[in-house]
Amino acid sequence: MLEVDVARNVKTVKPPVIGLDIGTSSVKLVELQSVDDGLKLKIFDYVPLDPGVIVDGKIINAENVAVPINLMVVRHNLHGRKAVISVGGLSVIHKLINLPEMSQADLNALMDAEAEIYIPFDIADVYVDSVIIGSDTSGHMKVLLTAAKRELVDKYLNVVIAAGLDPIYIDSDMYAMFNVFATTSEYSTDDKVILLDIGDSMMRVVAVKNGVIEFMREIPLGGALLTEEIARERGISWLKAEQIKLETSSFPDALDLQKVYNRVVGSLVEEINRAVDFYTAVTVDGGPSKVFAFGGGAKTPTLREKLAEKLGIPVELGQPLQSIRIDTSWAKSLEERQADLAVVIGLAMRQE
Ligand SMILES: Nc1ncnc2c1ncn2[C@@H]1O[C@H](COP(=O)(O)OP(=O)(O)OP(=O)(O)O)[C@@H](O)[C@H]1O
Ligand SMILES: [Mg+2]
Repeated sequence: MLEVDVARNVKTVKPPVIGLDIGTSSVKLVELQSVDDGLKLKIFDYVPLDPGVIVDGKIINAENVAVPINLMVVRHNLHGRKAVISVGGLSVIHKLINLPEMSQADLNALMDAEAEIYIPFDIADVYVDSVIIGSDTSGHMKVLLTAAKRELVDKYLNVVIAAGLDPIYIDSDMYAMFNVFATTSEYSTDDKVILLDIGDSMMRVVAVKNGVIEFMREIPLGGALLTEEIARERGISWLKAEQIKLETSSFPDALDLQKVYNRVVGSLVEEINRAVDFYTAVTVDGGPSKVFAFGGGAKTPTLREKLAEKLGIPVELGQPLQSIRIDTSWAKSLEERQADLAVVIGLAMRQE
């Protein structure tokens, strides 16, 4: 039977499963291999998706997602392999709750009976998953409760099955990013950091204190906003605007583009700042000391600098491959893409 397991505390790593990050602008696929001293990247591939195929984390055109994924399945001979995917967006909600200490089995039973207290959706319409993510000295534990609309999840499952893979877990995008960070980063245990994923249509903010998640928020904006605004400013197609954006590796010379970059970067920074401000107001012992930024949108010229200025803390491009061995022939091409791979690496690290 399929286990739909939207968030689970995974630290140990026993590949191989196929990690499949079905994002708005592309699907990324990774297989990791256990080697003596850790993990090695065995397969990395990706296929672009057309605009409009996935909107706000929902699959709008299933065939236009399944067919490109199947291309990768055929290319690497992955028919029938176990895959781990993730979902996110407005149809997925995360709740951090405090409960008296109990076993995971007791927690599961409690949530079977009482999850509706915490979930703002009709309980019949969602898959619910709960995981213990930390405990304190006063006999309480912290639980991450995740609920995802069945309709959304079932569409993802059907697409993955149609593409020739066997989906065994569904994670959440934010938890997968946290998982790769927690598994591969050497950060001091009293650090308070922000993990930020700036994708094409979504930004994900996860605050971590002492290695435990304290705050999670998704913001329905991302790198696509810049493409849309370039297209509007210049009266050109989306495709042409995306090309201009990807060719612009530093702050643009053209005055009209400068205006667009300032405006869009300003709004993205403002939204992230709002989320971090909210977290800083609810956490104790001061705000975060650092941001690790992932996702293609984090490479937008000036964005990390402007965000660092606004938040008053360093913003570093994340390196999800830092502790993974990579063949030298791949190293160069992956250098440019590595920040985009946080979610898919987190998924590929999933223990079967
Ligand atoms: N060098 C770059 N400079 C600016 N933007 C970039 C760069 N490289 C990629 N992007 C943008 O990053 C976005 C894609 O990033 P990513 O692959 O993380 O998103 P996604 O996973 O497809 O989307 P989402 O997570 O929102 O579903 C696109 O908007 C793309 O134009
Ligand atoms: Mg993404």
